[in-house]
Amino acid sequence: MRAVAVYPGKRLVKLIERPEPYITAPSQVKVRMLEVGVCGTDKELCAFVFGTPPPGSDHFILGHESLGEVREVGAGVQDLLPGDLVVGTVRLPCSDTACDACRTDHQDFCATGQYPEHGIRNLDGFMAEYVVEEREYLHVVPASLRQVGVLVEPLTIAEKAWQEAVRIQDRLPWKPSGRKALVLGAGAVGLLGAMKLVAEGLETFVYSQMPAPNPSSAIVESIGATYLSSQEVPVSEMARLVGRIDLVYEALGAAQLAFDVMKRLAPNGLFVFTGVPRAESLEAFDTYKVVENLVLKNQAIVGVVNSGRQSFADAIRDLGIFHQRWTGVVERIITGRFPMEEFMGPVMGRVDGIKNVIRIGEGK
Ligand code: BGC
Repeated sequence: MRAVAVYPGKRLVKLIERPEPYITAPSQVKVRMLEVGVCGTDKELCAFVFGTPPPGSDHFILGHESLGEVREVGAGVQDLLPGDLVVGTVRLPCSDTACDACRTDHQDFCATGQYPEHGIRNLDGFMAEYVVEEREYLHVVPASLRQVGVLVEPLTIAEKAWQEAVRIQDRLPWKPSGRKALVLGAGAVGLLGAMKLVAEGLETFVYSQMPAPNPSSAIVESIGATYLSSQEVPVSEMARLVGRIDLVYEALGAAQLAFDVMKRLAPNGLFVFTGVPRAESLEAFDTYKVVENLVLKNQAIVGVVNSGRQSFADAIRDLGIFHQRWTGVVERIITGRFPMEEFMGPVMGRVDGIKNVIRIGEGK
């Protein structure tokens, strides 16, 4: 079978031939991959910024945003049938018996840092024609979501952020009304986050670099949120227009802008980081102001990483809701579909668009 592989030592990314994997335990499932999305993490893996092959190998298969179709199930798998659509979990539990998070099925909160991740760290990813995975790490997607199911994994980021935001803001001894949210970044993670926030009833603003109109700003407007360009509207003016920034959902991976915005967070507000900051030189920033605000305004800051079971369940449910509510809009997040031989453009960041997807198979 064909697969896209990263060789960190040789600084090489290429299409390779691999023997097709087969089921070796009754709890396993063989999946025909249909589509795999490309994100910022993949681009960094292909620039060799990070990424670790499985032990004993000099390469790993790329890809963690998957959509596949069940081909074959192990003798112990009772609840999946060939043809069912599935999405794989990215991060799997570490093996430390003392890791409470991993031992209780919450590897997204792994405390040892020893977790493996498909297509990123110590495990092959999903950019291959076939994958064999344990049943418990596959999430069933309804057939009606065939065209957008590859967005489940990026949506899990917003779902985890929302779960955490609800828990953290539960600290407030009253129920806040008229809440407003600010999304930083209008890539796929930002747009899916904006959809989640609008669906949860928050007045939502999306702040991103590119001036409108552009494909992202059109999506933002179609879901009833407001798009503001940081090239046209400086942070201070943005804060004035929004009025009260109760919740920031950061989906940029750009630390400087995040800290500038943090100074404008409303009293009792919450700032959620989802992006791993890319190397950038930070201007001196006003730590004093940030800490003073945290204390005097009862603010909270949290970072979240996805891969929890609940987040996948919520993402699959909500993708269906978004799909019905904003007919034709969710599809517009996927701006390019490329055959496997043309994987290079998207993974090297040479093609534009919101979400580029590698098309691996058609399914039955
Ligand atoms: C994935 C996460 C992963 C992270 C690592 C993200 O793109 O969605 O599951 O932990 O990359 O950098």
